[in-house]
Amino acid sequence: MNKILIIGSGGREHALAWKFVQDNCDVYCLPGNGGTHEIATNINLDINDFNSIYEFVDRSKIDMVVVGPEDPLDKGIVDFFESKGIDIFGPSQYASQLECSKLFAREFMSENNIPQPKYYECEDFDRAYEIKQKIGLPLVLKADGLAAGKGVIMCYSENDFEQGIKTMFTDKKFGSASDKISIEECLVGEEVSVFAVCDGNNFQIIGNAQDHKRIFDNDKGPNTGGMGAYSPAKICNDEILEKVKDRIIAPTINGMKSRGYPYKGFLYVGLMIVEGEPFVIEFNVRMGDPETQVVIPRIKTSMYEIFSNCIRETIDEVDIVYDSDIFVTIVLASEGYPDNYDKGQSIQITGHKGLLFHAGTKLDQEKLIVSGGRVLNIVGRGEKLSNAINQAYGFIDNISFNGKYYRTDIGKKGL
Ligand code: AMP
Ligand code: GLY
Repeated sequence: MNKILIIGSGGREHALAWKFVQDNCDVYCLPGNGGTHEIATNINLDINDFNSIYEFVDRSKIDMVVVGPEDPLDKGIVDFFESKGIDIFGPSQYASQLECSKLFAREFMSENNIPQPKYYECEDFDRAYEIKQKIGLPLVLKADGLAAGKGVIMCYSENDFEQGIKTMFTDKKFGSASDKISIEECLVGEEVSVFAVCDGNNFQIIGNAQDHKRIFDNDKGPNTGGMGAYSPAKICNDEILEKVKDRIIAPTINGMKSRGYPYKGFLYVGLMIVEGEPFVIEFNVRMGDPETQVVIPRIKTSMYEIFSNCIRETIDEVDIVYDSDIFVTIVLASEGYPDNYDKGQSIQITGHKGLLFHAGTKLDQEKLIVSGGRVLNIVGRGEKLSNAINQAYGFIDNISFNGKYYRTDIGKKGL
């Protein structure tokens, strides 16, 4: 039985853990959550304390480490474990800059002729005004560094712009992440994400999904980590996927290889489809959350086989088989998320059938309680999107906790 260690504690990591359990692996989650506790062994260590993690991996004879979130990737967890001779699935610290520095990613895309919005690097007020003259409104301000998914400010009016650059440069809401920013042309179209697994030389697309980033129905209110998703998305037809492969993913793999830093791991391509043409809004160097919860259950092939072939640089030899059903996930959040929200409420789950992935939950003296803003992910499936949506919403009443909040329109844009 292969032993897998999954780093992270969200719904994404529970979904990965569930898949590895389906594939008959012995799974450890670090630190995991209330849901992974039921199917795997949770290990209580800091995800950025690589030495302690290594001691555990060595002592427990772990066969493969899989990294969920971007933070340890940005800190070089993959380089660290590779130097110890441990199999680990994820990109190197250098390659992680594709997500962890928005300007690194933009420059890389320009060098490799990958379709993207017009952008300018900016470090101060005067330059920001000059750039605004060039591209006009609306425009997008993006903190260069990691800002927990919140470092993007859309500016539709002069006032948005003034407040936006003040947030970035004066208030420093994102700390040093906004010492430099990318000012971008605002693309108008439909958003969709495509996910690939990469081995440094080759890649395979493993799915696509549409996320719902805003907190309220009809895409209103502030951005969140994602309030629900469905996969696959109708807009991602074969023609779009071919363009994404040829114009975006292949040049990314080739470009990183020719820089001397082959890209291994998940590649999340966040796209805006403008009149049938895909443009890159962002790269992430990990899977999405909640997109994993709908992309991974569609994969029938063993994840261990897929990841070990990436590590051995033979991903082109794997025949990845998919379920034909459409999957939908609804995030149940704690009221107030993405700002201040309550924690500690007890959670009751009764008579729930189907997939349920935990995110911000933990066990407190054998009782399941809320421990994060996004609490649980209900998953529905069906031959048609409408059936999957109905199934997922049909499970909502099986779960209760004080302050339970969810969007009521997940998947609607795909109907
Ligand atoms: P990101 O964190 O880069 O995914 O940005 C968050 C959200 O901001 C995206 O999901 C888009 O809706 C929006 N966004 C970011 N960059 C652009 C852009 N250049 N044009 C239009 N929308 C954008
Ligand atoms: N759901 C968006 C993300 O994972 O970045």
